[in-house]
Amino acid sequence: MPSVKVSAPAKVNIALRVGPPRRDGFHPLDTVFEALDLFDDITATLDTTGQVSLRIEGLGEDLPTDSSNLAMRAAELMRERYKVSAGVSLHILKRIPVAAGMAGGSADAAGVLVALNELWELGLGKNELHNLGAELGSDVPFSLMGGLAHGCGRGEVLAPIHPGALHSWVMVTSDEGLSTPEVFREFDAIMGYQPVAEELVADTQELRAMLEGTDIETLGSLMVNDLTEAAFSLCPTLREVYMAARQYGVTAILSGSGPSIGVLADDATTADVIAGKLSRELPGYKILRVNGPAAGAHVCP
Ligand code: C5P
Repeated sequence: MPSVKVSAPAKVNIALRVGPPRRDGFHPLDTVFEALDLFDDITATLDTTGQVSLRIEGLGEDLPTDSSNLAMRAAELMRERYKVSAGVSLHILKRIPVAAGMAGGSADAAGVLVALNELWELGLGKNELHNLGAELGSDVPFSLMGGLAHGCGRGEVLAPIHPGALHSWVMVTSDEGLSTPEVFREFDAIMGYQPVAEELVADTQELRAMLEGTDIETLGSLMVNDLTEAAFSLCPTLREVYMAARQYGVTAILSGSGPSIGVLADDATTADVIAGKLSRELPGYKILRVNGPAAGAHVCP
């Protein structure tokens, strides 16, 4: 049977500024995404009986494989929208931690969109895939695009940033995930926010300018995530992990809505050393040594 394999990247938010919720419930963001060289592999195999099915291997084997899984929703959306009669058997080899703030679910959905565009010979361009991605979730368009990008709106309005340097990261991840909607709700409670018409949020312009250069120290001093206190409030042990991570590298930052914490290092060798130290200091946490920026969801040869 014909099949297509796609790799889709994890992400870290180098900055995440969040405004009060809009009337549609989403929060206006000013964020910088970086794709990391940690990939989920999505293999789509043609099913001539017209069935759509999903199997997950690796991390997240206990995740649902019905329509509540974003990867299944991506396949169903494409099948309906383009009136495809063929089916697909999807297999995901998951390496991106689940509910970690590293866009694993979005990567899988992006991977499905790219794979089915090939498998079902739909001939969709980047814009069409982007729009389908935005219908599925705020982070899916970035998982398609990859690299380094400025995100606005609810995260789906993207502008690429030309990277001045490669970034060496150590990600501290835990088996215990955090729910994104819950973290946003806690953020509103802490800030005392009520829904308002969309407001401009703090700007990441200075940080974005630094990303085009090679000054990692200044970049680190500008990194900020407005969801940090909300994530700490829901998961109090995370503050200690964050403090432990912060003593190393240029700085540490919560990724997205957490609980993963990214430590940015001066260079690859330093990152390797930090990964070793944090593995010893934080037993029970999974330490990942990754680099960015990396490619967006792409077909593998
Ligand atoms: O877009 P996505 O489905 O990934 O978002 C999941 C949830 O996260 C939303 O339902 C919303 O509660 C919250 N969210 C938000 N503002 C954003 C992105 C997500 O409030 N910009």
